[in-house]
Amino acid sequence: MEDKLTKFLELTSKKVSLIELCKELQEEPLGIYGLKNRAEKAGYDIAYELVDDDITFYNLGENKDHRTQDVSFISDNGHFKCMVISSPLIGNKAQQLSIIKDVYKKAKEEGIKHVFLCGDLISGKYSMTNSLHDSNFLTDIESQIDYFISHFPKEEGITTYFITGRKDQDKKISVGSRIAEARDDMVYLGNCNADFKIDNSTIKLLNSPLSKTYTISYRPQQFGNSFRAEDKPESLWIGGLCQVDSINFRGINIFSIPSLCGTTDEMMAKRYENTVGALILDIKSDKKGKIDSIKYTILPYYQTDKNDYKKHNNSSAQYTNPTEEKVPEVDANRYYKWIKNGFSVEDFKAEHHVSDLELDGILEVCNLNGNDVKQVVNSAGDLVFLKPTFSRKVIEKLPKDSQYIKVANFGIVSDTHIGNRENQLHSLYDFYDEAARRGITDIYHGGDISDGFYNITSRITYPEQTPFKTFDDQGLYILRAYPYKKGIVTHLITGNHDLTHFRNGGANIGNWLEASRRDIEYLGHNEATIYIDNVLKLGLRHPIDGSSKSFSYKIQNKIENMPSGDKENILAYAHYHKYYYAMIRNTHAFMLPAFCAPTQFERDAGLLNYVGGLFLTVYYDSRNGNVIYLDAEPRLYDKKDYWDEYGKDEEKVRKLVDKNKRRLGMR
Ligand SMILES: [Fe+2]
Ligand SMILES: [Fe+2]
Repeated sequence: MEDKLTKFLELTSKKVSLIELCKELQEEPLGIYGLKNRAEKAGYDIAYELVDDDITFYNLGENKDHRTQDVSFISDNGHFKCMVISSPLIGNKAQQLSIIKDVYKKAKEEGIKHVFLCGDLISGKYSMTNSLHDSNFLTDIESQIDYFISHFPKEEGITTYFITGRKDQDKKISVGSRIAEARDDMVYLGNCNADFKIDNSTIKLLNSPLSKTYTISYRPQQFGNSFRAEDKPESLWIGGLCQVDSINFRGINIFSIPSLCGTTDEMMAKRYENTVGALILDIKSDKKGKIDSIKYTILPYYQTDKNDYKKHNNSSAQYTNPTEEKVPEVDANRYYKWIKNGFSVEDFKAEHHVSDLELDGILEVCNLNGNDVKQVVNSAGDLVFLKPTFSRKVIEKLPKDSQYIKVANFGIVSDTHIGNRENQLHSLYDFYDEAARRGITDIYHGGDISDGFYNITSRITYPEQTPFKTFDDQGLYILRAYPYKKGIVTHLITGNHDLTHFRNGGANIGNWLEASRRDIEYLGHNEATIYIDNVLKLGLRHPIDGSSKSFSYKIQNKIENMPSGDKENILAYAHYHKYYYAMIRNTHAFMLPAFCAPTQFERDAGLLNYVGGLFLTVYYDSRNGNVIYLDAEPRLYDKKDYWDEYGKDEEKVRKLVDKNKRRLGMR
């Protein structure tokens, strides 16, 4: 009977008449109605229509709805920690089940109970005529779903909440419902988007309905802009863009969620850049249950394995060696050394007493080891070996297992603009206090420590904005007022505002501060590269151009113009007075907020200005400086935190500065 039902569903995928169904299924009309009834019980919508004196049947597809609505979470003492992932694209040859498993293992180690998956669970179907048809190893939706159900990681104590994405759409099958029905550890929240609550905050999950753009931050900003003020979620997690970035825009904490799949043929065809990894979010709620801050950890994967889909293709049963005999070793390197470039294949076989089959074996072993040796016909008509000019890197083990992981923990501040009346010195003190609490010993400053001295012809409104005008005014004030904390060293570059002092009288405030304060180290003007532990490269930059509307645009341009192999692991861009993170060409790039409220210059130009600093904890491979995990904690201050430091709050600031002077032993 099951077979008949399957056949009935197949036949009704097109409009089909009752008479035809009776013939095909060898049933009386009553039997056909019976099958319609059973199909509906199994969750299909079957339409039927009277046409002349016949009746047609048509399968509208699954009407099963396993969506779970109104999902809410309560934080644990104000903290909610979860993992967010996207786009495993199961069924595609670029699938990376090893990485997905590793990500879940990491979630388990971190004690995470909730994983959110932002769509594109499966690769979806390409028609036979589509040039991308071959990019799937599982060509139809059914087998992709089955594979997902049996292979997608299931970890004790972890529930995966998911939305489906653009890749999971099918006319007949509800991919989300099927998976939710089969897996008790998976909760289906909605098709392409869903809202849920953490305490009193609304989180929106979205699988981008719009295609990826060259400028990374363009879509996140566009989505952030599209909400009416009353509909704004507190946080928005966007899947399907295969990129990672973080932006706080219109008060919404927006994250693009990277993919968990290698670069597919479709991405290649569309020239999409693909960033692979996962995000761990640690969400802190305030007393009202609204998001106070989000600390995020990036788990990047720099390498994927194009053969990964072959490794997990078969039964899920655990394999154990039945004989317990030692597996004979095959020394690929020895064979590879035997093979000489341009050497005759026939001679090789004779010299090493190798059969045709063994030769194929040798080539296969070399290939598995990353050396694709070819056999080609040379100009004399002989079959000879052609060795590759470079070897593929073979991933033996995922870097996460490495015993070489080390941790660097530091703070970054920038654009303090001391001397300007909008300077927020009290926030800078707060940042340094927090750094001391965390046991941080190094803080990097991205420049524009001083507001500089512009002459009256270049910025006409300027004099009234700077209570401290000259080099002496600003220099002496910074010397006394710049936060001093025992055990913390500030490493400083200078920026374009500091440069004005140099222009006016050759005074370099960086040199001057280094000479005057033992806790300040001057690294140079506009740029510096710091080698932490000799391998982890941290770049500080103070560009001189204006910022772009799309946050990522300027820094993407800059990073793309850097030569390969020479890039820093982490790059921090000062000067724009904005907070933004994105992973660009394997570099973790940050834009740094300022420590001044919007200045007159910024207000005149209508520029966005962020106030705050950044704490980073970097887990890196001590052999090569590769970033394994990166914890980013922006400490941002908003309008309610601003002080009028040269007006009504003057007295409070003076007290803070006096305290600092005492710590420094200054009068
Ligand atoms: Fe600045
Ligand atoms: Fe600047």
